[in-house]
Amino acid sequence: MDRMSVTEIFNGIPLPGHLHTPESLQYAQDFQFKEGDILIVTYPKSGTTWMQEILTLIYSQGDTEIAMTVPNWERAPWLEHTYFKDTLKEGEGPRILTTHLPSNVLAPALQNSKAKVIYLARNPKDVAVSFYYFHKMAKFLPDFNTFSEFLDRFLEGKVHYGSWFDHVKGWYRQRNNLDFLYITYEDLKKDLRRSIKKVCRFLGCPMYSKEVDKVEHHCRFPEMSQNMMVNYMLIPNEILDHDQSKFMRKGIVGDWRQHMTPEQSDAFDKIFQEKMSGCNLQFLWSLD
Ligand code: A3P
Repeated sequence: MDRMSVTEIFNGIPLPGHLHTPESLQYAQDFQFKEGDILIVTYPKSGTTWMQEILTLIYSQGDTEIAMTVPNWERAPWLEHTYFKDTLKEGEGPRILTTHLPSNVLAPALQNSKAKVIYLARNPKDVAVSFYYFHKMAKFLPDFNTFSEFLDRFLEGKVHYGSWFDHVKGWYRQRNNLDFLYITYEDLKKDLRRSIKKVCRFLGCPMYSKEVDKVEHHCRFPEMSQNMMVNYMLIPNEILDHDQSKFMRKGIVGDWRQHMTPEQSDAFDKIFQEKMSGCNLQFLWSLD
Protein backbone atom coordinates (compact mmCIF):
# COMPACT_ATOMS: atom_id res chain seq x y z
CA MET A 1 0.00 0.00 0.00
CA ASP A 2 1.09 3.50 -0.80
CA ARG A 3 3.13 5.51 1.70
CA MET A 4 1.47 3.78 4.68
CA SER A 5 4.26 4.62 7.09
CA VAL A 6 5.13 8.07 5.70
CA THR A 7 4.41 11.15 7.79
CA GLU A 8 4.16 14.56 6.12
CA ILE A 9 4.87 17.57 8.31
CA PHE A 10 2.87 20.59 7.18
CA ASN A 11 2.97 23.85 9.13
CA GLY A 12 4.40 21.86 12.03
CA ILE A 13 1.54 19.35 11.98
CA PRO A 14 2.13 15.64 11.25
CA LEU A 15 -0.27 14.18 8.68
CA PRO A 16 -0.52 10.67 7.21
CA GLY A 17 1.52 10.43 4.01
CA HIS A 18 -0.92 7.84 2.66
CA LEU A 19 -3.45 10.65 2.18
CA HIS A 20 -1.24 13.74 1.86
CA THR A 21 1.79 14.78 -0.19
CA PRO A 22 3.64 18.11 -0.24
CA GLU A 23 1.91 18.80 -3.59
CA SER A 24 -1.60 18.00 -2.35
CA LEU A 25 -1.06 20.18 0.72
CA GLN A 26 0.21 23.08 -1.37
CA TYR A 27 -2.77 22.67 -3.69
CA ALA A 28 -5.10 22.96 -0.69
CA GLN A 29 -3.35 26.04 0.60
CA ASP A 30 -3.56 27.74 -2.81
CA PHE A 31 -7.12 26.62 -3.52
CA GLN A 32 -9.42 29.29 -4.96
CA PHE A 33 -12.78 29.07 -3.23
CA LYS A 34 -15.73 30.47 -5.07
CA GLU A 35 -19.16 31.74 -4.17
CA GLY A 36 -21.43 28.83 -3.34
CA ASP A 37 -18.68 26.59 -1.98
CA ILE A 38 -19.40 25.00 1.37
CA LEU A 39 -16.46 23.87 3.45
CA ILE A 40 -16.99 21.39 6.29
CA VAL A 41 -14.17 21.87 8.80
CA THR A 42 -13.45 19.42 11.60
CA TYR A 43 -10.75 18.01 13.79
CA PRO A 44 -10.81 14.23 13.04
CA LYS A 45 -13.49 12.14 14.75
CA SER A 46 -15.80 15.07 15.39
CA GLY A 47 -18.63 13.85 13.14
CA THR A 48 -17.24 14.85 9.73
CA THR A 49 -18.99 11.97 7.93
CA TRP A 50 -22.24 12.84 9.67
CA MET A 51 -22.13 16.45 8.40
CA GLN A 52 -21.16 15.26 4.90
CA GLU A 53 -24.27 13.08 4.89
CA ILE A 54 -26.51 15.86 6.23
CA LEU A 55 -25.34 18.29 3.53
CA THR A 56 -25.73 15.69 0.79
CA LEU A 57 -29.30 15.03 1.89
CA ILE A 58 -30.16 18.72 2.28
CA TYR A 59 -29.04 19.42 -1.28
CA SER A 60 -30.98 16.43 -2.62
CA GLN A 61 -34.09 17.51 -0.68
CA GLY A 62 -34.04 14.25 1.21
CA ASP A 63 -33.67 12.04 -1.88
CA THR A 64 -31.27 9.27 -0.80
CA GLU A 65 -30.03 8.20 -4.24
CA ILE A 66 -26.68 10.05 -4.17
CA ALA A 67 -26.13 9.22 -0.51
CA MET A 68 -26.67 5.52 -1.24
CA THR A 69 -24.60 5.30 -4.43
CA VAL A 70 -21.65 7.72 -4.16
CA PRO A 71 -19.01 7.44 -1.41
CA ASN A 72 -18.78 10.41 0.94
CA TRP A 73 -15.19 11.16 -0.10
CA GLU A 74 -16.39 11.73 -3.68
CA ARG A 75 -19.39 13.88 -2.86
CA ALA A 76 -17.59 15.99 -0.22
CA PRO A 77 -13.87 15.49 -0.97
CA TRP A 78 -11.07 16.48 1.39
CA LEU A 79 -9.27 19.53 0.03
CA GLU A 80 -5.86 18.32 1.22
CA HIS A 81 -6.02 14.69 0.05
CA THR A 82 -4.00 13.43 -2.89
CA TYR A 83 -7.07 12.50 -4.94
CA PHE A 84 -8.79 15.90 -4.49
CA LYS A 85 -7.85 17.49 -7.83
CA ASP A 86 -9.20 14.54 -9.79
CA THR A 87 -12.36 14.21 -7.74
CA LEU A 88 -13.52 17.81 -7.74
CA LYS A 89 -16.48 18.04 -10.06
CA GLU A 90 -17.53 21.26 -11.71
CA GLY A 91 -21.19 20.53 -12.07
CA GLU A 92 -24.42 22.13 -11.09
CA GLY A 93 -25.04 22.98 -7.50
CA PRO A 94 -22.65 23.96 -4.75
CA ARG A 95 -19.34 22.22 -4.19
CA ILE A 96 -19.29 20.52 -0.81
CA LEU A 97 -15.70 20.32 0.42
CA THR A 98 -14.16 18.92 3.58
CA THR A 99 -10.97 19.70 5.48
CA HIS A 100 -9.11 18.91 8.70
CA LEU A 101 -6.50 21.63 8.05
CA PRO A 102 -5.95 24.37 10.65
CA SER A 103 -7.34 27.88 10.22
CA ASN A 104 -3.98 29.59 9.63
CA VAL A 105 -3.58 27.58 6.40
CA LEU A 106 -7.01 28.22 4.91
CA ALA A 107 -8.45 31.36 6.50
CA PRO A 108 -6.58 33.80 4.20
CA ALA A 109 -8.07 32.23 1.05
CA LEU A 110 -11.49 31.90 2.68
CA GLN A 111 -11.54 35.54 3.79
CA ASN A 112 -11.20 36.59 0.16
CA SER A 113 -14.04 34.37 -0.97
CA LYS A 114 -17.75 34.03 -0.43
CA ALA A 115 -17.50 30.38 0.61
CA LYS A 116 -19.52 29.22 3.57
CA VAL A 117 -17.76 27.43 6.41
CA ILE A 118 -19.39 24.92 8.76
CA TYR A 119 -17.20 24.18 11.75
CA LEU A 120 -18.29 21.02 13.56
CA ALA A 121 -16.72 20.48 16.99
CA ARG A 122 -17.06 17.59 19.45
CA ASN A 123 -16.17 17.37 23.12
CA PRO A 124 -12.49 16.43 23.17
CA LYS A 125 -12.81 13.53 25.61
CA ASP A 126 -15.03 11.67 23.14
CA VAL A 127 -12.79 12.80 20.27
CA ALA A 128 -9.80 11.25 22.05
CA VAL A 129 -11.60 7.92 22.54
CA SER A 130 -12.90 7.78 18.98
CA PHE A 131 -9.47 8.79 17.61
CA TYR A 132 -7.77 6.08 19.66
CA TYR A 133 -10.01 3.41 18.08
CA PHE A 134 -9.42 4.96 14.68
CA HIS A 135 -5.67 4.60 15.23
CA LYS A 136 -6.24 0.91 15.93
CA MET A 137 -8.00 0.42 12.62
CA ALA A 138 -6.14 2.89 10.34
CA LYS A 139 -2.94 1.31 9.08
CA PHE A 140 -1.67 4.74 7.99
CA LEU A 141 -1.65 6.08 11.58
CA PRO A 142 0.92 5.28 14.30
CA ASP A 143 0.30 2.40 16.70
CA PHE A 144 -0.34 3.02 20.37
CA ASN A 145 -0.20 0.20 22.88
CA THR A 146 -2.68 1.64 25.34
CA PHE A 147 -5.35 4.31 25.54
CA SER A 148 -3.37 5.96 28.31
CA GLU A 149 -0.35 6.35 26.03
CA PHE A 150 -2.53 7.81 23.29
CA LEU A 151 -4.28 10.18 25.70
CA ASP A 152 -0.98 11.67 26.84
CA ARG A 153 0.05 12.38 23.26
CA PHE A 154 -3.38 13.78 22.44
CA LEU A 155 -3.25 16.21 25.37
CA GLU A 156 0.26 17.29 24.35
CA GLY A 157 -1.09 18.01 20.86
CA LYS A 158 1.49 15.64 19.41
CA VAL A 159 -0.81 13.24 17.54
CA HIS A 160 -1.35 13.32 13.78
CA TYR A 161 -3.49 16.33 12.80
CA GLY A 162 -2.04 18.29 15.72
CA SER A 163 -3.60 19.81 18.80
CA TRP A 164 -7.39 19.63 19.18
CA PHE A 165 -7.21 22.82 21.28
CA ASP A 166 -5.37 24.81 18.61
CA HIS A 167 -7.68 23.54 15.89
CA VAL A 168 -10.91 24.53 17.63
CA LYS A 169 -9.63 27.84 18.99
CA GLY A 170 -8.00 28.81 15.71
CA TRP A 171 -11.14 28.26 13.66
CA TYR A 172 -13.45 29.77 16.28
CA ARG A 173 -11.38 32.97 16.21
CA GLN A 174 -12.25 33.29 12.53
CA ARG A 175 -16.01 33.31 13.17
CA ASN A 176 -16.47 37.03 12.49
CA ASN A 177 -14.16 37.08 9.47
CA LEU A 178 -15.94 34.33 7.57
CA ASP A 179 -19.44 33.25 6.60
CA PHE A 180 -19.31 30.82 9.47
CA LEU A 181 -21.55 28.36 11.32
CA TYR A 182 -20.29 26.79 14.52
CA ILE A 183 -22.17 23.67 15.57
CA THR A 184 -21.33 20.66 17.71
CA TYR A 185 -21.66 16.89 17.53
CA GLU A 186 -23.57 17.12 20.81
CA ASP A 187 -26.08 19.56 19.19
CA LEU A 188 -26.67 16.98 16.46
CA LYS A 189 -27.12 14.20 19.01
CA LYS A 190 -29.41 16.24 21.24
CA ASP A 191 -31.76 17.40 18.52
CA LEU A 192 -30.91 16.27 15.01
CA ARG A 193 -34.00 17.83 13.45
CA ARG A 194 -33.34 21.24 14.98
CA SER A 195 -29.69 21.05 13.89
CA ILE A 196 -30.64 20.13 10.32
CA LYS A 197 -32.96 23.14 10.19
CA LYS A 198 -30.21 25.37 11.58
CA VAL A 199 -27.84 24.19 8.85
CA CYS A 200 -30.58 24.77 6.24
CA ARG A 201 -31.06 28.35 7.44
CA PHE A 202 -27.32 28.99 7.29
CA LEU A 203 -27.15 27.62 3.75
CA GLY A 204 -30.26 29.50 2.65
CA CYS A 205 -31.89 26.19 1.68
CA PRO A 206 -35.52 26.12 2.81
CA MET A 207 -36.99 22.62 3.16
CA TYR A 208 -40.47 21.20 3.53
CA SER A 209 -41.14 19.39 6.76
CA LYS A 210 -41.49 16.07 4.89
CA GLU A 211 -38.05 16.56 3.35
CA VAL A 212 -36.54 17.29 6.77
CA ASP A 213 -38.17 14.04 7.97
CA LYS A 214 -36.25 12.14 5.29
CA VAL A 215 -32.91 13.83 6.05
CA GLU A 216 -33.38 13.18 9.73
CA HIS A 217 -34.27 9.53 9.24
CA HIS A 218 -31.41 8.80 6.87
CA CYS A 219 -28.81 10.56 9.06
CA ARG A 220 -29.54 8.58 12.21
CA PHE A 221 -26.71 6.36 13.44
CA PRO A 222 -28.43 3.00 12.72
CA GLU A 223 -29.15 4.02 9.12
CA MET A 224 -25.74 5.54 8.47
CA SER A 225 -23.87 2.61 9.92
CA GLN A 226 -25.58 0.36 7.35
CA ASN A 227 -24.82 2.68 4.43
CA MET A 228 -21.75 1.33 2.61
CA MET A 229 -21.16 4.77 1.09
CA VAL A 230 -20.34 6.26 4.50
CA ASN A 231 -19.39 3.40 6.82
CA TYR A 232 -15.97 2.96 5.13
CA MET A 233 -16.52 -0.77 4.60
CA LEU A 234 -15.51 -0.13 0.96
CA ILE A 235 -11.94 0.46 2.18
CA PRO A 236 -9.98 -2.83 2.36
CA ASN A 237 -8.69 -4.25 5.64
CA GLU A 238 -5.08 -3.53 4.62
CA ILE A 239 -5.87 0.18 4.98
CA LEU A 240 -8.69 0.21 7.55
CA ASP A 241 -8.75 -2.95 9.62
CA HIS A 242 -12.46 -3.42 10.31
CA ASP A 243 -11.69 -6.31 12.67
CA GLN A 244 -9.96 -3.88 15.04
CA SER A 245 -12.79 -1.36 15.18
CA LYS A 246 -15.75 -0.17 13.15
CA PHE A 247 -15.65 3.30 11.63
CA MET A 248 -19.26 3.80 12.75
CA ARG A 249 -18.31 2.62 16.20
CA LYS A 250 -20.79 3.78 18.88
CA GLY A 251 -22.01 7.23 17.88
CA ILE A 252 -22.77 8.40 21.41
CA VAL A 253 -21.93 11.28 23.74
CA GLY A 254 -20.00 10.39 26.89
CA ASP A 255 -18.25 7.17 25.82
CA TRP A 256 -15.10 8.64 27.45
CA ARG A 257 -16.59 7.61 30.81
CA GLN A 258 -16.06 3.97 29.81
CA HIS A 259 -12.41 4.65 28.99
CA MET A 260 -10.96 7.27 31.33
CA THR A 261 -10.15 6.73 34.96
CA PRO A 262 -11.26 9.52 37.35
CA GLU A 263 -7.60 10.61 37.54
CA GLN A 264 -7.28 10.79 33.76
CA SER A 265 -10.52 12.73 33.54
CA ASP A 266 -9.38 15.21 36.21
CA ALA A 267 -6.04 15.71 34.51
CA PHE A 268 -7.90 16.25 31.22
CA ASP A 269 -10.17 18.85 32.83
CA LYS A 270 -7.19 20.74 34.16
CA ILE A 271 -5.49 20.91 30.78
CA PHE A 272 -8.81 21.83 29.16
CA GLN A 273 -9.25 24.78 31.57
CA GLU A 274 -5.72 25.99 30.93
CA LYS A 275 -5.79 25.69 27.17
CA MET A 276 -9.32 27.01 26.69
CA SER A 277 -9.04 29.95 29.09
CA GLY A 278 -10.08 33.14 27.34
CA CYS A 279 -12.21 31.19 24.89
CA ASN A 280 -15.90 31.09 25.78
CA LEU A 281 -16.65 27.73 24.17
CA GLN A 282 -18.58 25.26 26.30
CA PHE A 283 -18.88 21.53 25.64
CA LEU A 284 -21.41 18.95 26.68
CA TRP A 285 -19.60 15.99 28.19
CA SER A 286 -22.68 13.79 28.46
CA LEU A 287 -26.35 13.97 27.61
CA ASP A 288 -27.78 12.91 30.95
P1 A3P B 1 -17.40 7.10 17.55
O1 A3P B 1 -16.06 6.51 17.23
O2 A3P B 1 -17.42 7.77 18.90
O3 A3P B 1 -18.52 6.15 17.38
P2 A3P B 1 -15.51 11.45 11.71
O4 A3P B 1 -16.51 11.26 10.63
O5 A3P B 1 -15.16 12.89 11.97
O6 A3P B 1 -14.31 10.59 11.52
O7 A3P B 1 -16.18 11.01 13.10
C1 A3P B 1 -16.50 9.66 13.33
C2 A3P B 1 -17.34 9.60 14.59
O8 A3P B 1 -18.65 10.12 14.30
C3 A3P B 1 -17.54 8.17 15.09
O9 A3P B 1 -17.67 8.30 16.52
C4 A3P B 1 -18.86 7.81 14.42
O10 A3P B 1 -19.51 6.73 15.01
C5 A3P B 1 -19.62 9.12 14.63
N1 A3P B 1 -20.80 9.25 13.75
C6 A3P B 1 -20.87 9.18 12.42
N2 A3P B 1 -22.15 9.27 12.01
C7 A3P B 1 -22.90 9.40 13.11
C8 A3P B 1 -24.32 9.51 13.35
N3 A3P B 1 -25.19 9.49 12.37
N4 A3P B 1 -24.74 9.61 14.63
C9 A3P B 1 -23.86 9.62 15.66
N5 A3P B 1 -22.51 9.52 15.49
C10 A3P B 1 -22.05 9.39 14.24
